[in-house]
Amino acid sequence: MKILHVTCSPRGTTSESYRLSRHIIGHLLKSDPTATVINRVVSGDAIPQVDEHYAMSQQASADVSQEGSMAQSEVLIEELESADVVVIGTPMHNFTVPAALKIWIDHIARVRRTFNVGAQGKTSVLHDRPVFIAVSSGGRFSGEDPRQPDFLTPYLKAVLGMIGLHALTFFSVEGTALGPQAVALARSKSDQAVEAHFSALR
Ligand SMILES: Cc1cc2nc3c(=O)[nH]c(=O)nc-3n(C[C@H](O)[C@H](O)[C@H](O)COP(=O)(O)O)c2cc1C
Repeated sequence: MKILHVTCSPRGTTSESYRLSRHIIGHLLKSDPTATVINRVVSGDAIPQVDEHYAMSQQASADVSQEGSMAQSEVLIEELESADVVVIGTPMHNFTVPAALKIWIDHIARVRRTFNVGAQGKTSVLHDRPVFIAVSSGGRFSGEDPRQPDFLTPYLKAVLGMIGLHALTFFSVEGTALGPQAVALARSKSDQAVEAHFSALR
């Protein structure tokens, strides 16, 4: 099994979203100790924004240069295609995904490559595979009486679904800005949710 681990927090390996996503990967490795992990860090300037070549490729004519972002996009898409399971660790930034993760999405959601547009609208090209998403947030965005809107969850469902990834499972550690006790509680709740998910599969 090949696991693609995508991380985008500016806090790197000390981040909550990284911690929770590694916890998920720990369970995947337990079920298949021979699995390999590809680490794709997209935070900071790791991946430049899409360029003119890429922007032209989104127009009706597909006859464009394969250089610059097109080459980068191809690397990222092939990496995604080669994965049996995808694990994404992401903080919530301004109710949605951080700009760094959006740049990765811009590269992998490419017309005439990972989705097509036709009379039926947008149709996906990739085959489905499990995608686990570990979200961390300063406040709460789910459950009863959430304190803010959540555009992250519906956005990822829509955009990953567009390219063919529908088997999404979300876990979250919420309330990281609410003090050490709240963080400890949120971590333990999210870890328990991950454990319950994987033990139900056993
Ligand atoms: C630019 C920015 C925007 C943020 N926007 C939100 C937000 O909309 N909602 C929220 O609950 N927390 C927000 N936060 C807080 C982070 O989601 C929170 O600190 C999270 O635990 C960070 O996760 P990480 O450790 O994985 O980076 C924001 C943080 C930053 C830096």
